[in-house]
Amino acid sequence: MVNQGYKCRTLSYWSGVIYSYCDIGRFKLKDLYSIDINEELLDEEIELSGWVQVKREHGGIIFIDLRDRSGIVQLVFDQNESMDLFNLANELKSEYVIKVKGKVRKRENPNPNIPTGYYEVLVLSLEVLNEAKPLPIQVIKQTEDSEEIRLKYRYIDLRRERMKENIVARHKVTSEIRKFFNDRGFYDIETPFLTKSTPEGARDFLVPSRLNQGRFYALPQSPQIFKQLLMISGFEKYYQIVRCFRDEDLRADRQPEFTQLDVEMSFIDEEDIFSNIDEMFKSILGSVYGKDLSTPLPRMKYDEAMSRYGTDRPDLRFGLALNDVSDFIKKMKVKSFLIDGINQGRKFYTLVSPLSDKITRKFLDSYASESKKRGCDIFTWAKINGVNKSISGPFSKLFENTDDILGIVGALSQIDYEKEENYILFGCYGEERKVQELLGDLRSSLGDLLGLINNEDLNFCWVTDFPLFEWSDEEGKIVSVHHPFTSPKSNIEEVEIELRSDNIYKLKSRSYDLVLNGIELGGGSIRIHKPKVQRKVFSILGLSHEEIDQKFGFLIRALEYGAPPHGGIAFGLDRIVMMLQGESSIREVIPFPKTASGLCPLTGAPDFISARQLGELGLKLK
Ligand code: AMO
Repeated sequence: MVNQGYKCRTLSYWSGVIYSYCDIGRFKLKDLYSIDINEELLDEEIELSGWVQVKREHGGIIFIDLRDRSGIVQLVFDQNESMDLFNLANELKSEYVIKVKGKVRKRENPNPNIPTGYYEVLVLSLEVLNEAKPLPIQVIKQTEDSEEIRLKYRYIDLRRERMKENIVARHKVTSEIRKFFNDRGFYDIETPFLTKSTPEGARDFLVPSRLNQGRFYALPQSPQIFKQLLMISGFEKYYQIVRCFRDEDLRADRQPEFTQLDVEMSFIDEEDIFSNIDEMFKSILGSVYGKDLSTPLPRMKYDEAMSRYGTDRPDLRFGLALNDVSDFIKKMKVKSFLIDGINQGRKFYTLVSPLSDKITRKFLDSYASESKKRGCDIFTWAKINGVNKSISGPFSKLFENTDDILGIVGALSQIDYEKEENYILFGCYGEERKVQELLGDLRSSLGDLLGLINNEDLNFCWVTDFPLFEWSDEEGKIVSVHHPFTSPKSNIEEVEIELRSDNIYKLKSRSYDLVLNGIELGGGSIRIHKPKVQRKVFSILGLSHEEIDQKFGFLIRALEYGAPPHGGIAFGLDRIVMMLQGESSIREVIPFPKTASGLCPLTGAPDFISARQLGELGLKLK
């Protein structure tokens, strides 16, 4: 058998007898891939199946690159060996599916760029398993196809090397995750898809119930409540790799259906979450990417992330941190309205960057108008000449003495005068959050514009201590920053006090996000496990007693029957793979994603439904 070109790799125990799994009997397996062709198989006769990737003819010989899932190998059809085979090979076209038997030999002109490049297969028999029409998109040529066409012919797009690598990497990452949690005694438990709304801040996808007309299931935005119920059931350590659904505006890192790695544990605190997750990423990077990750991963409090980077998703691959200089300014001779404003709680922040021709007038003007649009009071800048320490630009207008500006910058040690380089100093004044966010966006743009980012870097960072509540202009009410099941840092009495003194936004929560290179990979929290606290949080969020019972009565009831302290986290699996594969959109790591407008060009979903189907559901279109 082995001499005929089949490898026997797997043995099976069946009815007490050991059976080998070659190409005989019930268990025929394709066990030889092009990648397996090596020195050991020289002069052996083997069988391969796959797709015709490239065909070329040279002096009475046809060469074909045969592609299978492992890669490519060169097939040779020599007219001196067999004219019939040569003629048959001549008929082959791109992406035909074929099966060949042949003899492995050394290549006269090796191609060191591919793993099988020193060998080829002299074909002795050829079977065409299927033909292929001319392709709408090319498999090997780098063509700029529209996303629409790539997704319409996704099964061809997925034949491309880069896409194949992404999908295989995704498989390896999920396998590693499962192994990691299984080895640590976590249970993989499923939760329902047809369920009730889970408040994660997006719109629900709704499914009408035929059996209960007028009622709707919501597809889960996350398994949040169910994983908490599993803790109350006593499973203690849970994980699941699970599809979630959110009807929200789509972006490069958002899909309407996406995959979460969802984790929950009982009798734990934040440190247990951090250490498990740090180790999980170490394992993924080590086993799948052969990279070392030094742990523990860095941590930063939310307030610091906002004041130094202007975002709760800091990209730590480069510096250019922001500075709150309000206290310096109060002591200087500046326009009086600034001091008055700062005394009333407004803030002045600066950002210093190396000067570059790339920072054009147009760039500066675009940030000036953006700052107005976002309601910042002042956005200004000055160029600092590091050689003669002179300053030019509108920034100086705010100060009576320009040395004060140099003093501020010097005090922050952000300029290395020894280097005698030129810098640009940005200033922004107004409501703190708006100022931070504007300069945070400016910082990101400068990172890209000035080429400060090394794309090979992986800079993880835990962001902790988020506020518990925030005001939502969009909804016109208080909302949870994370979700309503997140435990406050303070006890219920302290919550009551802050509530009475109108300091509700100062309350911090026991929540955390893991950020990688400026992208939020995941987030979670220690949960509320006391029914009284959960009721209080719902009522702060504006729910009446009746609404709490109607929407979340089942959860409050469950908390009353012996709920352990618990907490967890969920990651966007698509985002993890996107980042590790160096892609800029999660669509590149999802086999069958939707377009930015939520369509599936391959199947035509979402589709219209018939009047009969609507009738069965008791629905009528407007
Ligand atoms: P959260 O809403 O932060 O938390 O979601 C967790 C992670 O899921 C990913 N994610 C998405 N990925 C792709 N497309 C989307 N539309 C999308 N929305 C979210 C992000 C995000 O960090 N139940 C809580 C977790 C917990 O508290 O344990 C939750 O879902 O990477």
